[in-house]
Amino acid sequence: MQTSVIFATSHGTTQKVAEKIREHIGETNCAIYNLKDNPSIDLSNYQRVIIGGSIYTGTMQKKVKEFCNANIEKLIEKSLGLFICGMNEPAFEEELKNAFPEKLLEHASSKKAVGGEFVMEKLNFFEKLIVKKVSGVKESVSKLDFDKIRQLVSETE
Ligand SMILES: Cc1cc2nc3c(=O)[nH]c(=O)nc-3n(C[C@H](O)[C@H](O)[C@H](O)COP(=O)(O)O)c2cc1C
Repeated sequence: MQTSVIFATSHGTTQKVAEKIREHIGETNCAIYNLKDNPSIDLSNYQRVIIGGSIYTGTMQKKVKEFCNANIEKLIEKSLGLFICGMNEPAFEEELKNAFPEKLLEHASSKKAVGGEFVMEKLNFFEKLIVKKVSGVKESVSKLDFDKIRQLVSETE
């Protein structure tokens, strides 16, 4: 089975997750696509598709939303996994629900919030301000949930 992992990222954390997923699946059977470089992807070669992006102020990356909306009919023919990266754990369920079209959420065999990171040196002035204000965090912190990433892969087989 060939898999594509399709994602959007602002500061690299979702890419890290995509690479971790490819590590689990094996490089020969798995391609990863950053939507910034590949806005339209030919899905016909892939039986399994895993899509993810990060959440900023409650909202999924626009490129992920656009890609999902443009490819709903093709995606519901695939084995499908969906994930979000984020740091606001109490909101994960709601954020997941709002991140993807309802039809894809219904079809997906796995939907996971896999945690995230604050990488302070990569944030701009305003982002740092928001993070400090909302979460009180001043230093870089990584809260990626590697068990959830593993589950995401195994549940979409
Ligand atoms: C300005 C800002 C706003 C954020 N807002 C949210 C949010 O509303 N909910 C959430 O779960 N995480 C939020 N996060 C955390 C990001 O989703 C997290 O840093 C993620 O790992 C970023 O992934 P990326 O580098 O792939 O974009 C926010 C982060 C920043 C810097």
